[in-house]
Amino acid sequence: MNIFVSGAAGFVGFHLSQLLLKKGHNVIGYDNLNDYYAVNLKYNRLNLLEKFDLFNFFEQPLEDLEKVNKCFIENDIDVVINLAAQAGVRYSLENPHAYIDSNIQGFTNILEACRHHNVKHLIYASSSSVYGANVNIPFSTSDEVNHPVSLYAATKKSNELMAHTYSHLYDIPTTGLRFFTVYGPWGRPDMAYFSFTEKILNGETISVFNNGDMMRDFTYIDDIVDGIVGLIDQPPQKDPEFSMATPDPSRSYAPYRLYNIGNNQPVRLMDFISTLEKHLGVEANKEYLPMQPGDVQATYADIDDLKVATGFEPSTTIDEGLGKFVEWYKWYYNVN
Ligand SMILES: NC(=O)c1ccc[n+]([C@@H]2O[C@H](COP(=O)([O-])OP(=O)(O)OC[C@H]3O[C@@H](n4cnc5c(N)ncnc54)[C@H](O)[C@@H]3O)[C@@H](O)[C@H]2O)c1
Repeated sequence: MNIFVSGAAGFVGFHLSQLLLKKGHNVIGYDNLNDYYAVNLKYNRLNLLEKFDLFNFFEQPLEDLEKVNKCFIENDIDVVINLAAQAGVRYSLENPHAYIDSNIQGFTNILEACRHHNVKHLIYASSSSVYGANVNIPFSTSDEVNHPVSLYAATKKSNELMAHTYSHLYDIPTTGLRFFTVYGPWGRPDMAYFSFTEKILNGETISVFNNGDMMRDFTYIDDIVDGIVGLIDQPPQKDPEFSMATPDPSRSYAPYRLYNIGNNQPVRLMDFISTLEKHLGVEANKEYLPMQPGDVQATYADIDDLKVATGFEPSTTIDEGLGKFVEWYKWYYNVN
């Protein structure tokens, strides 16, 4: 298949592209290589992808509709996996416009390209952040998510609504995936596991928010990409049983589905830090601070629907996953 992967130089996009290439697909990678975090890391990921003949890369922004359309026409795209986005909860308080540009304008162009170029399935990244102020755990895609606490979350929820509109109007099969704190080798330097590692090794103090009383459903990157690949040839069908009187937000009379993709095993922040300390062989200096604006205390994914649909079964424990991350980090940054 010809699979368009936006955000291919990003953390998830890189791992996904690698797996698709190994499976023999043509991957059309698309990324603007922005400098939200170290661009070098993006170049180094790309260098690995460019070793595959089946990889074709376009350094372009999703905001340019003409270029997106041209790429779709030239490459006869079958499936689109949209991972490009301005990510990060905290940065959305600093630079809100970056989220509107990439996540709203960019996503509109993806939808328009799918509409005009006969794409068979659009899979796109949403986020556990959409659960916002929800307190019912585990978080279920059947619950309403109408109380976002960051602009990042609001753009991801908007993507779900926009996707539904295109599934309804143009019968485009769309699958939204709410990712839960993805971590692993080649990860994102703005995320806590990465910046904690950097600081601990440099003898700097780490900031522990909400005085350590946080829980995250950390999900290892290999489990995430297996989950995405399992969905590619399962475009959602119209649900004939869908009830307009008691609508379930995760499905529709249109070819539209939403899934959580998480580990289903939340870890306490303090246990996560001690596991990281164990693998680094260093104890962290910690500063305990209050909750940050835009953040949530706990995330916990109900993944039953994805298990039923694809047999999704995340298998990497936090101990194993952080061990692999630390091994990669030391190799990549040449730390003894
Ligand atoms: N990593 C996580 O824990 C996590 C959790 C929830 C949701 N997500 C979502 O998953 C997706 C992938 O996340 P990631 O961790 O790989 O992030 P990432 O920042 O590593 O990758 C995103 C890539 O998209 C590119 N990009 C951003 N805006 C673009 C634009 N307008 N045009 C073209 N390229 C653009 C960036 O240069 C980057 O390489 C994102 O949509 C993110 O919001 C990730």
